[in-house]
Parts: sequence; structure tokens; C-alpha cells
Amino acid sequence: MPPDSAQILPTHTSKLFTAAVHQAAMLLRAGEVVALPTETVYGLAANAFNAQAVERIFEIKGRPAYNPIIIHVSSGELAMRSVETWPAVAEKLASAFWPGPLTLVLKRSQEIPDIVTAGGCTVGVRWPSHPFMQAVIRECGFPLAAPSANPSNLVSPTNAEHVRKYLGRRIRLIVDGGQSQIGIESTVLDLSVAPPRLLRPGMIREEALLAVVGELRQGSTKSAQAIKSPGQLRRHYAPQAPLVVLSWQNEQDLRTQLSILPVASGKERPPTIHVIAHTHIPSHQGFGRVSVIPHDPEAFGRALYSELHQGDETGAELIVVEAPPETSEWLAISDRLKRASAT
Ligand code: TXA
Ligand code: MG
Repeated sequence: MPPDSAQILPTHTSKLFTAAVHQAAMLLRAGEVVALPTETVYGLAANAFNAQAVERIFEIKGRPAYNPIIIHVSSGELAMRSVETWPAVAEKLASAFWPGPLTLVLKRSQEIPDIVTAGGCTVGVRWPSHPFMQAVIRECGFPLAAPSANPSNLVSPTNAEHVRKYLGRRIRLIVDGGQSQIGIESTVLDLSVAPPRLLRPGMIREEALLAVVGELRQGSTKSAQAIKSPGQLRRHYAPQAPLVVLSWQNEQDLRTQLSILPVASGKERPPTIHVIAHTHIPSHQGFGRVSVIPHDPEAFGRALYSELHQGDETGAELIVVEAPPETSEWLAISDRLKRASAT
């Protein structure tokens, strides 16, 4: 493909929106892979019933074949066509949280090809709330398999420009549906076991899930589970620059801690540092960039990946993030930061 062959279609008027729905649906019906907006992060989508089309997703992302892909639906009917059984707990969760950022892992139906599930007997299903994604699925009439639209292990894209930067040369169409409202990936809940088990924390929090399901299986992300949901492998969602999470009392404290970090000390020149802070905001002096995100988990989730993309773009050699509080509202963010900082 020629450089930057991807067409980026805007959707900000109803005419543009409809034209983009038709264009995306046409390519998807022809078995192509396109990048589409969702409320969590942008997805790299293909017809979930078409094994060859889904295979292209794996190629484009460089995704290992053992990592299953979630599918997106826009009706209960399509969800039920994709699974073997639809237990009462799925119905309760769907009524409470769909459309929205919750992926339910259930026994898969015959119609879902092996490649989607990485050969396993379960499939992750989500009904996204983004109006564009919903409209395309309705127009297609089949579910869309879609992982995040980034090369494997890199930071998920939260706008069309992030996707273009990553995949502009590898796909034909990117639909611009604006900045992703939630900004981090969906909560993944395994309903193939009882009680259900949280595989990936997200903005739909454990307390909210507990209120509906009553009980969750406890257990940490140990190896068996990591293989079960390979997105939970340690280093993931990572920017190019090393990332560290630190707590500091004041600016001097931050600078002292930085001066003794292995990545910063003993070098001919100090690294270009991008600081992302929410509470103790240092002056810009000596830093490549200082970003402030409000001390609020929703706002932080929405902005975090854009900040990490910015860091990479502006040549950060070290990204320093002010540690989030250790409360449950911040769990999904702490999880992503832990993975992004893993070495
Ligand atoms: O918010 C999201 O979920 C985004 C948007 C595009 O919808 N998608 C996304 O997909 O993050 P992906 O593939 O990047 O992450 C899906 C996660 C991975 O950790 C994968 O291992 C896990 O869900 N997963 C998918 N199918 C599974 C299954 N059948 N059993 C267990 N885990 C599964
Ligand atoms: Mg991903």
C-alpha cells in the first residue's frame, strides 16, 4: 500500500455520518478491516463471522494468535446469536450496563470462527454505546470483531489521529468519531465461570458489578488467568518512552527522586521528561512538558492515553506519572499504569 493510504472520514454532520456508515459497511461486507471509533478506544474492526477478515486484524496488529478478540454487537439478538447460552446473569448485566464499556465472556456459538476466540470455547461480547459503531453494526447485520486499533502492546488510540499514526499505511479507512469519551478499554468479565471473574478492570467498577451479580470470584492475575485473557500479560498499553509512576510531596521532592532514577542519573545530559500530574503540579522548568489532568478518575481515564501518545510524539525520553490514589475508583487507571511501566 502507498504511504498513508488510509482515508479519514469525518462524521460531525448527519450527512457525513451517514456517508461514513455506508462506506465503512461496504468495506466490512467485502471482508476488509477498518478503524472505527468507540467510547472506550478506537477499534480495528472486521466481520466477526468471516475468519479471513479477522485473520487480517491479527496480521495488521502483529497480535499473537493465542490472544482472542472481542466482538461488538448492537442488539440483544446479535449477542445471542454469537453465544451458545445466555445465562440470567448475562441478561442482568446487559440490562444494567449495555450499551457501554463492559465485555462479557460467554460460551461461544458455532457461528463464531476459531480465530476470533483463539481456538477457545468462549467469546467476549460488548454492545458499545458509540453511535457510529452502533450504526455500522446495524447496517452490516453481523457482529464486528475489534481489538484496539494499535500495534500489539502499544498504547490504545483514543482519536483518529492516533490510529493514522499507527496504521495509516496498513488500512484503507479510519472513521473519525471524535475523542473517545471513556479513554481506556472496557471492563472484561468472565461469565463462563461461577461466580463471574473480573479479567480486566475498567471504568465499570467492581462495586457496580457486585451490585448486579452479588459475588465475584476472587483471585489475582496469576499465570492461568493471564493465559485466559492475554491482554493481562504484564507489559501492555505501553508508550515508547519508559514510564514511571511516582508520588511526591512537592516539586523539590519530585526533582530529588528523578535525579536518582537509573534512567536519569549518570547520563551526559538529563533525559527529556514528560510529567503528568493531578495534584502536586511542578513548574515547567527543566521538563520537556508538564501536563495536568484533573484529580478525577473519569477525567484521568479520558486523557491518559492522549498524554502518553503526546509524550511519544514530542520525543519524551521518560514519562513520569503522579501516582493515583489507591482507591477502587482508580483501579482501572492504576492497572494500565502498572502495565505501561512494567519492564
Ligand atoms: O474497550 C474495548 O474493549 C476495546 C474496544 C475497541 O471495544 N477493545 C479492546 O480489545 O480493548 P483488545 O483485544 O485490545 O482487548 C480485549 C481483551 C484482551 O485482554 C483479550 O485477551 C481479552 O479481552 N479477551 C478477548 N476475548 C476473550 C475471551 N474469550 N476470554 C478471555 N479474555 C478475552
Ligand atoms: Mg488492546
